[in-house]
Amino acid sequence: MDMHPDLEQVLFSRERIAARVVELGRQISDDYRNGNLLLVGVLKGAVVFLADLMRAITIPHRFDFIRASSYGKGTASSGYVMLSGQIEHHLADYDVLIVEGIVDTGRTIEALTREFTRSGARSLEVCSFLMKKRPRAVPVVCRYLGYEVPDRFVVGYGLDYDERYRHLDCVGILRREVYEL
Ligand code: PRP
Repeated sequence: MDMHPDLEQVLFSRERIAARVVELGRQISDDYRNGNLLLVGVLKGAVVFLADLMRAITIPHRFDFIRASSYGKGTASSGYVMLSGQIEHHLADYDVLIVEGIVDTGRTIEALTREFTRSGARSLEVCSFLMKKRPRAVPVVCRYLGYEVPDRFVVGYGLDYDERYRHLDCVGILRREVYEL
């Protein structure tokens, strides 16, 4: 497929993404074979990754969602993470794996960790498809990581700019002209 004209560069093709997700699924299935796994997808960015990851996990597991948002229409974090939505599962019964599309400042993961620790999750780890290579005020430990990416604005595979590009099957760097008018 031709590259979307708003992209400056494709970082990960559909094929590379698919292969990495299979590896992550295998690793998670192995590590949690004696656990009670609950995937908690972080809406909306993680929705595509979660849908692929759950099908790459070969052990029985459940999934749930939480909504976290901090970027609004811009390309930089507002610094304030708004959590919403109701987790339907009783977290104390589960080994919770937060499934995230991308870790940037780390504030979303920090807020979720605080929230799920307070709810008494039996264990808590993070699986993020992408993580920006940048200094972080809040250190984030991702037990499972798809890829590191440069500190640029990336879209596709669930990630958006102003709600656009989430449907792209690759991950790419958005051209600056698109958001710097
Ligand atoms: C994005 C992304 C992550 C978060 C990462 O969400 O999907 O959830 O930011 O950034 P952080 O590490 O700096 O907290 P966004 O607020 O854009 O909402 P969305 O997932 O609905 O696009």
